[in-house]
Amino acid sequence: MTIDVDTKLVGLLGFPLGHSLSPLMHNRAFATLGLNFHYLPIQVSEAHLPTVAAGLACMNFAGYNVTIPHKIRIMAHLDAVDDLARLIGAVNTVVLHEGRATGYNTDGAGYVRALESEGGVTVEGRKIVVLGCGGAARAIAMTLAFRGVGALTLCNRTAEKAHALAADINSRVRPCCGVAPMEPAALEAALVGAEVLINTTSMGMHPQEDRLPLEAGLLHRDLVVSDIVYNPRETRLLREAAARGCRVVHGLGMLVYQGVEGFRRWTGQEAPVEVMFAALREKLGG
Ligand code: ATR
Repeated sequence: MTIDVDTKLVGLLGFPLGHSLSPLMHNRAFATLGLNFHYLPIQVSEAHLPTVAAGLACMNFAGYNVTIPHKIRIMAHLDAVDDLARLIGAVNTVVLHEGRATGYNTDGAGYVRALESEGGVTVEGRKIVVLGCGGAARAIAMTLAFRGVGALTLCNRTAEKAHALAADINSRVRPCCGVAPMEPAALEAALVGAEVLINTTSMGMHPQEDRLPLEAGLLHRDLVVSDIVYNPRETRLLREAAARGCRVVHGLGMLVYQGVEGFRRWTGQEAPVEVMFAALREKLGG
């Protein structure tokens, strides 16, 4: 591809950046649609974030993604932050238009799209159990509440974090969220009648491939079991779930669909989803 004066750039702001999959995924998608766009990693320290954010708004950038550690801090440097991103308390996608920066959070929406397309379930009215209470869980849980989930149960090793997030959801979105201790008996009770189980903990992620976030015997066949971990592509939780007849949702979908949401906002076009999946599968192997 040729970068010229008409090229629209999209950045990824983080520190340290490491090996992000987003440049590959988006550049493959831009090329497939023949769009004169290019996605590039921009490593920015905390001290330089305000200067870089102001600079990008004056340049030929359509927008940018924001990753660790800037997802919260960036909000102070934007002209507007949408309602869901404000509830989540973090921005991962910024759209620039005529020098004006608007922040969104597409992690939760991306997750929901993956759940709907791979799991075949809609969110509204469902009973859903979420394991873990970190940044990803917060984006997912807030989005589920925002989209009309029936009942949400949060389980976390550090119980106070689950109580704090549940209180935040119940007071700021809708009173739909409860908490259960991360113990077998409590998890078993929480899973009675539940339709979806989501793992957002790092248990099962490389190099902890052997670990499970809950006892496999607690999985029942009416559950859609979803793991946001994508390395390895199929976690032990998903293998155990599939062996018990559960429908499973892999972690790669959240990564792809959060990007799909950004792609649409930057380009005004629907992203070639299968091309993006293929690029990541190629890169990650298996
Ligand atoms: P992310 O941004 O991916 O959500 P995070 O914010 O670091 O990552 O959150 C990691 C989650 O995995 C947390 O819920 C964490 O539990 P704590 O809040 O108790 O720390 C959970 N987690 C990580 N290692 C775990 C372990 N060994 N057992 C149980 N939970 C674990």
